[in-house]
Amino acid sequence: MIPIARPDIGEEEVDAVSEVLRSGMLAQGKRTAEFEARWADYCGVKHAIATSNGTLALMAIFAGIGLVPGDEVITVSHTFPATANAILSTGAMPVFVDIEPDTYLIDAARIEAAITPRTRAIVPVHLFGLVADMDMITALADRHGLAVVEDACQAHGATFRGRRAGSFGFGAFSLYATKNMTTGEGGFITTDDDHLADWFRLYRNQGMRERYHHEILGYNFRMTDIAAAMGLVQLDKLERNTARRQAIAKRYDEAFADLPIRLPIWPDGRTHVYHQYTIGVGSARDQIVAEMKDAGVICGIYYPIPCHRQAYVMELGIEADLPNTDAAAASCMSLPMYPGLTEAEQQQVIGALHTAVHSNAVGAGNRA
Ligand SMILES: Cc1ncc(COP(=O)(O)O)c(C=O)c1O
Repeated sequence: MIPIARPDIGEEEVDAVSEVLRSGMLAQGKRTAEFEARWADYCGVKHAIATSNGTLALMAIFAGIGLVPGDEVITVSHTFPATANAILSTGAMPVFVDIEPDTYLIDAARIEAAITPRTRAIVPVHLFGLVADMDMITALADRHGLAVVEDACQAHGATFRGRRAGSFGFGAFSLYATKNMTTGEGGFITTDDDHLADWFRLYRNQGMRERYHHEILGYNFRMTDIAAAMGLVQLDKLERNTARRQAIAKRYDEAFADLPIRLPIWPDGRTHVYHQYTIGVGSARDQIVAEMKDAGVICGIYYPIPCHRQAYVMELGIEADLPNTDAAAASCMSLPMYPGLTEAEQQQVIGALHTAVHSNAVGAGNRA
């Protein structure tokens, strides 16, 4: 079976982790500090704060910017629900706007109509490895005095006009096992804000700067040095692995150019890091995914149920009319995409998709 994702873990990660284990210094320490400094430098921001995962990075940001019940936050429904859940954790409400059908990203042209006196922040999700339209989003945020929180959990190293994901506002990253770089579980907050960076560090560490002096109400969102040691090796490999993902995407693009399916687009001025290679195949999607599995290829559906259609969100009475989101949820699928995907494996994926698309008479309308 060809999996949808496979982490690139080699002897260097094993050695780096073993060294920490042998040192006996396992918890957040100097490896974490080094990882933070290198990630801040890589993203082009003043501060990176390592966390236990991406969800907690988002939750810390939303707490740090002071969201409270009654506040509204503009985001997308077509995302992993952690985005919306982290907003809900503060008592604030997500306000979902629709996505662009071709990028699957927040349709920035629809944001202004969703702004009310209660709006506090805009949360673009750089889904699948492509940065949202940060020109429009930062301009709107400036004009309306709103915070920008980038869910960059899938966009390590992706750029928009030469700037990295996570450098436009507050950035949240995930280092989960399937992400473009991983520590098994892990995350980062990125920011240029000195005051909030300090607050995030306290919040992550039970409110302590000095042991047992709790300056604020905090929790334990820390990363271990075991994870950080692995992350440092992963960061060394990130550029090479991104280039591999891009080469794989190019081969998929060429192989599928004649199929009546929607291929990922790479808009000018951005760098796509292809966390996922996501295609639109129309109403036969579930059948195609099943046939791919029979042919030895595991595909993903990201995401079959948008946030606004999850039962616990519907119970909150959030109204949302999101035709592009619903269409994406019903018609998208993602193909195997990881740096170690061999050419032979990729040929198997390509052959299986050709067969499945033809046998399901997928229509040219999917390209629209
Ligand atoms: C878009 C998005 N947001 C948030 C998260 C949450 O990150 P984590 O799983 O590290 O908590 C993820 C990853 O799973 C994600 O893909």
